[in-house]
Amino acid sequence: MAMEAPHQYPGKLTFRVVITCIMAATGGLIFGYDHGVSGGVTSMDSFLKEFFPSVYEQESNVKPSANQYCKFNSQILTLFTSSLYLSALVAGLGASTITRIMGRRATMIVGGLFFVSGTLFNGLADGIWMLIVGRLLLGFGIGCANQSVPIYLSEMAPYKYRGGLNMCFQLSITIGIFVANLFNYYFAKILNGQGWRLSLGLGAIPAVIFVVGSLCLPDSPSSLVARGRHEAARQELVKIRGTTDIEAELKDIITASEALENVKHPWKTLLERKYRPQLVFAVCIPFFQQFTGLNVITFYAPILFRTIGFGPTASLMSAVIIGSFKPVSTLISIFVVDKFGRRTLFLEGGAQMLICQIIMTIAIAVTFGTSGNPGQLPKWYAVVIVGVICVYVAGFAWSWGPLGWLVPSEIFPLEIRPACQSITVGVNMTCTFFIAQFFTAMLCHMKFGLFLFFGGFVVIMTIFIYKLFPETKGVPLEEMHKEWQKHPIWGKFLDAGRADEKDSK
Ligand code: BGC
Repeated sequence: MAMEAPHQYPGKLTFRVVITCIMAATGGLIFGYDHGVSGGVTSMDSFLKEFFPSVYEQESNVKPSANQYCKFNSQILTLFTSSLYLSALVAGLGASTITRIMGRRATMIVGGLFFVSGTLFNGLADGIWMLIVGRLLLGFGIGCANQSVPIYLSEMAPYKYRGGLNMCFQLSITIGIFVANLFNYYFAKILNGQGWRLSLGLGAIPAVIFVVGSLCLPDSPSSLVARGRHEAARQELVKIRGTTDIEAELKDIITASEALENVKHPWKTLLERKYRPQLVFAVCIPFFQQFTGLNVITFYAPILFRTIGFGPTASLMSAVIIGSFKPVSTLISIFVVDKFGRRTLFLEGGAQMLICQIIMTIAIAVTFGTSGNPGQLPKWYAVVIVGVICVYVAGFAWSWGPLGWLVPSEIFPLEIRPACQSITVGVNMTCTFFIAQFFTAMLCHMKFGLFLFFGGFVVIMTIFIYKLFPETKGVPLEEMHKEWQKHPIWGKFLDAGRADEKDSK
């Protein structure tokens, strides 16, 4: 079947669009900061002594664990990290309604307010309950921000630059993680062991920037049209595209929003067969992103390093070195994603991560076996492990990291966009929770095999992309549905659905 080429909308990359996207992407900064901060804090002795004395005794050899792999194994300790993702899951689902009815910007403001209150609870905590409540509040913020910011960015960006601009979200996530690693390293040694309060409390700074920034942002043209404000959408399009020649794009947004008017129940609608490709990706992309195993490193690098024999300071320093690879790799991705496309990055990143996972498994297995008693570790060993983890992290940070948020935000048609994005956030948070909560138990039971476990998923996800993902580079959002039709597997699936429908009429 002959297919027409996608529309070429005029318009350029305006200052307004760049500033707007950078501002919105600060939502990622807080997400990243909260991701990065907990691992370091939970490896600080003063923090463990105050809130988790039994883990402290086990880890500091007062009551040693029989197996080196198991010395941080405490479900209460991991609950401190993971509780955030439970509330993010709930908030992500609820946020779809705010995003649809009140706009993307409103959801960002609500998210920012949760962030501010969560950091205050954590920084001032004098009992586990305050720590957990703080993490839950932060989670509500993350659910709201991750639901609204990626779709906002994709809707504001000119389609030619959508990949790069959307990835500013991931760039700020990685900067947030890096800053948290750095703070943990410095704060671990100050304030008589109370430095963790600064680590947790300073998240308030990006949170305030995000609230103020969101208050100043305009709503996206798609969101304005979806709420019947066509004239405001026209004026905003003129400003962000830097041209008055916006009628073609506005017309397509209006057409897309007509489909929205027929959708009374977005959650039910997205189960229709014609939306199956989008639904499959809404679930699989975040699932696979988390089952690359990257967050084992993000959350627990310091714990992992202490497990394999590094000292406390070396562990925190190694986390800083690894953390610095993420923003740099994501920056590279920003510059190449709209040139090489999403598929190339997915496939290359997958291969790179797999090779590193195999090397890590062998390196840890050879030194530790299953007993986990390391003895004196040679220096070259530490350098190899940290080096391989850096290459692995770089592979993630230019592929599944940013694409895990970009791809869902660009493939959902307007009528089901908020609901689908909520699914993506929900699945992401559920899987993040799973890994955050059960990592120490998995390490204790699977030992070095843990890295192969995630390596197996990397193989599956790479084949999945190769077979099922159509390239989305340079395709306007309103034309995306045609890409599924052109795809050899999805095209047949959709045709078969239409034929069935005709027969039943
Ligand atoms: C993921 C996070 C991850 C981060 C690391 C994000 O895209 O959703 O779970 O920690 O990237 O760079």
